[in-house]
Amino acid sequence: MTQRALVTGATAGIGHAFARALASRGYDLVLVSRDLARLQAVADQISTKHGVEVTVVSADLSSHVGLAKAVAAVDGIDLLINNAGSSIAGWFGKTDIAAEESQLDLMVRAPMVLTDAALKQMVSRGSGKIINVASMAAFTPRGIYAAHKAWLVNLGLWLNLQYADSGVTVTTLCPGFVHIEFHQRMNAKTDDIPRWMWLDADKVVAAALRDLERGKALSIPTARYKALAVLARTLPIGLVSRVAKKGR
Ligand SMILES: NC(=O)c1ccc[n+]([C@@H]2O[C@H](COP(=O)([O-])OP(=O)(O)OC[C@H]3O[C@@H](n4cnc5c(N)ncnc54)[C@H](OP(=O)(O)O)[C@@H]3O)[C@@H](O)[C@H]2O)c1
Repeated sequence: MTQRALVTGATAGIGHAFARALASRGYDLVLVSRDLARLQAVADQISTKHGVEVTVVSADLSSHVGLAKAVAAVDGIDLLINNAGSSIAGWFGKTDIAAEESQLDLMVRAPMVLTDAALKQMVSRGSGKIINVASMAAFTPRGIYAAHKAWLVNLGLWLNLQYADSGVTVTTLCPGFVHIEFHQRMNAKTDDIPRWMWLDADKVVAAALRDLERGKALSIPTARYKALAVLARTLPIGLVSRVAKKGR
């Protein structure tokens, strides 16, 4: 039977790479993001190229109304990819708290609520897979964005253990810097990031899907980032914090 995947943030960057990779593997898709025209263009392109069924849901996942629309679309999916995300410029304490609350809703509340909806169906069916897109930032104390991603990592590690016997796996993807419009959107300065740290979105997704098939709890694409994650998790936290502070 054809498998169906729901991908949030599917019109750009990593989410778009997931949508293309899954369509090439024969998945029907439900694509969620805000810009309806862009969603429709991506859906048309993918369904024409791969001959799969693509449904679109235009929803702002930081809003209660938008999230409810996405939850309704979770019905019957085999794979959920919580990918949509963004960041706001400036360090917490200097930013607008309303914007921070909206970020929390997008980065934490939305994946939590979508995971809950998908998990309950998957457990009762005895099968299903979830990918939560976190970040290497989760392993360092570096402001609100890193804290949101650390929340996803911690929950995902537990979920993968807790529901393994129910036929449901949860893989948390932690990419390093991926070359896409994400950094432009947050007006981030990226000139000082060494070339070896940049990753290609298609390769990140290919690694994540391999790890998903193996039921791995954590997916850290590339050996160099795996090594950095080991360092960040084993070196004294004071040292890790000082190194992280020197970054952007
Ligand atoms: N790029 C990196 O270096 C990097 C590294 C590690 C982790 N990540 C994580 O990877 C994920 C994807 O990032 P990306 O770099 O691929 O970002 P991106 O290229 O900026 O794409 C973000 C996607 O999310 C959608 N989106 C943004 N805000 C949304 C909202 N409020 N409601 C619904 N959809 C929304 C966007 O579409 P609309 O604007 O139309 O809504 C777009 O489809 C994020 O969770 C990010 O934190 C990225």
